[in-house]
Amino acid sequence: MEKTMELALENKDYVIQMRRYFHENPEASEHEVNTCKVVCEELKKMGLEPQVVGKLGTGVMVDIKGDQPGKTIALRADMDALSVQELNDFSFKSKVDGLMHACGHDGHTATLLGAAKVLLACKDQIKGTVRLLFQPAEEVATGAKDMIDAGCLDGVDATMAIHLWSDVKSGTISVEAGPRMAAANWFKYRLKGKPGHGALPHQGIDAGLAASAAALNMQHIVSREFPASEPLVITIGHIESGTRFNVIAAEALLEGTVRCFNLEAFCKGVPEAMLRVVEGTADAYRCEVTEKFVFEATLPCNNPEEASARATKTVKKLLGEEGVGKLPPLMGGEDYSFIMNKVPDSLIAFVGIGDPEKGTDEPHHSGCFKIDEDCLPNSVAFYAQYAIDYLNE
Ligand code: NI
Repeated sequence: MEKTMELALENKDYVIQMRRYFHENPEASEHEVNTCKVVCEELKKMGLEPQVVGKLGTGVMVDIKGDQPGKTIALRADMDALSVQELNDFSFKSKVDGLMHACGHDGHTATLLGAAKVLLACKDQIKGTVRLLFQPAEEVATGAKDMIDAGCLDGVDATMAIHLWSDVKSGTISVEAGPRMAAANWFKYRLKGKPGHGALPHQGIDAGLAASAAALNMQHIVSREFPASEPLVITIGHIESGTRFNVIAAEALLEGTVRCFNLEAFCKGVPEAMLRVVEGTADAYRCEVTEKFVFEATLPCNNPEEASARATKTVKKLLGEEGVGKLPPLMGGEDYSFIMNKVPDSLIAFVGIGDPEKGTDEPHHSGCFKIDEDCLPNSVAFYAQYAIDYLNE
């Protein structure tokens, strides 16, 4: 057995205890004050000197230097919880009403703390520096940017993040190359017409009708302007218009999200096409577009071939052939994508926690979400071993 796995198993109780503490005490995005404090305390107990970083004031960075000089790899864990009501009834269920670690970030934070212990015990194997990044505010996509702005990636040659994942079988880790998570945005368009009597529509300009047409026309972008071989989703989740059943609506709002894996299409092609269709449709219905808003929440996460090959070897070392997990690309977003975009040699790994017999295959963001805690050592060992393997290349 690899030394990292031996040490991860030795620290299993510690990691479970930390994970349960974070689970019981969840904090909302951008408010991870106590989590940040506890992470710093734990790192100090290990003899490390963590730094609180970023404008949000809750990010933590710490370097572990190996016995020999070399490159620097950053390992990232996110720390925030979600506004979800916990429906589980175990001893360490969330103490905060309406707030829950329903995505597994409690496990990320705990296993990166575990990895710190393992790495400290393996300093003779570290050729260079392992930087640990405890990141706030992933769920609102401001945390990774905050860490980047604070200079956390300065001098960093490669990065790796793990996500515990309930669709990946317990005992396996998915590190496939190519698209892993989608780029996601939030868009809004407001259309303006002219009010009038519902019985005399020709005297007004119906913004509600124009918005309905624009919503339909935007779906043609997906089927007629972009290749069917590349997944693209345009969802308009919120339409608002009008005040009364017999009044012509003078205003309408369309709000939604785009998901795709192609960065060029996401940043340029799709938003340009959408604006053309919304403006063209508004024009055809004699309306005006008074608000155009696009917020790029996340970029695509693409695992490079080289990093994926390296990670596959690491997984096999730790868990054998059967440890190589599988997960199709996800249309969900992840703000680690901003780190991946900044440091090309970056990898996102999905550590399996899904075991139907233990009931840990519930979807993420559900109030019933659970972690197979027997898999936490896999996350600890993978964090540590991947860093060691990279630095020894
Ligand atoms: Ni998550």
